[in-house]
Amino acid sequence: MLKIAVLVSGGGTNLQAIIDSIADGRITNTKIGVVVSNNAKAYALNRAEKAGIPTKVIAPKDFETRDAFNDALTDYLLDTGVDLIVLAGYLVILPPQLIKAFRNKIINIHPSLIPSFCGTGFYGLKVHEEALKRGVKLTGATVHFVNEETDGGPIILQKAVEVKYLDSPEYLQKRVMEEAEWVILPKAIDLIANNKVTLKDGYAVVSE
Ligand code: GRF
Repeated sequence: MLKIAVLVSGGGTNLQAIIDSIADGRITNTKIGVVVSNNAKAYALNRAEKAGIPTKVIAPKDFETRDAFNDALTDYLLDTGVDLIVLAGYLVILPPQLIKAFRNKIINIHPSLIPSFCGTGFYGLKVHEEALKRGVKLTGATVHFVNEETDGGPIILQKAVEVKYLDSPEYLQKRVMEEAEWVILPKAIDLIANNKVTLKDGYAVVSE
């Protein structure tokens, strides 16, 4: 049984997709051990509580220094004994020691087809604003392993979404979430839970 921690900062629609996918069997062999947020007001926490999942708030502002926050988050997650950390709309820079402690055991969902529209500063609506500005015909979402480079780890799954001419950033974001994020993040977790993702020479090899 894969025990996961889901890290959230906002509305939690990706978390909800994971909860629903476990409930309906699209994700097998997996249990959400805890939902952790940097934001006590994140609606994602309400979603977790409604599903009976333990929650924990660890916020940088509650610590004297960033190093103290980094240590607290890392120590907490190590203590939970989770096998995989899932970043689902988590907006805090991960502590280097956490990435080290969970090497190749942290995944993230990014709302574009990496390497487009990613890296420092590319999150939320900005990603879709840039895609519309560039006039791409296809965008989408990517699930990737997390390493020290922002959005730089091995890609696990991607799903394309057509950009429509009259799309607003908000409407494009909604379509990318519905048609791509909420599909490939649960799928990636199920693949990992069933040992169908292996890393070879820095590439994530997926065996269906
Ligand atoms: C969305 O922009 C999503 O693309 C990104 O995080 C944001 C919030 O997602 N991964 P959620 O509703 O909190 O899951």
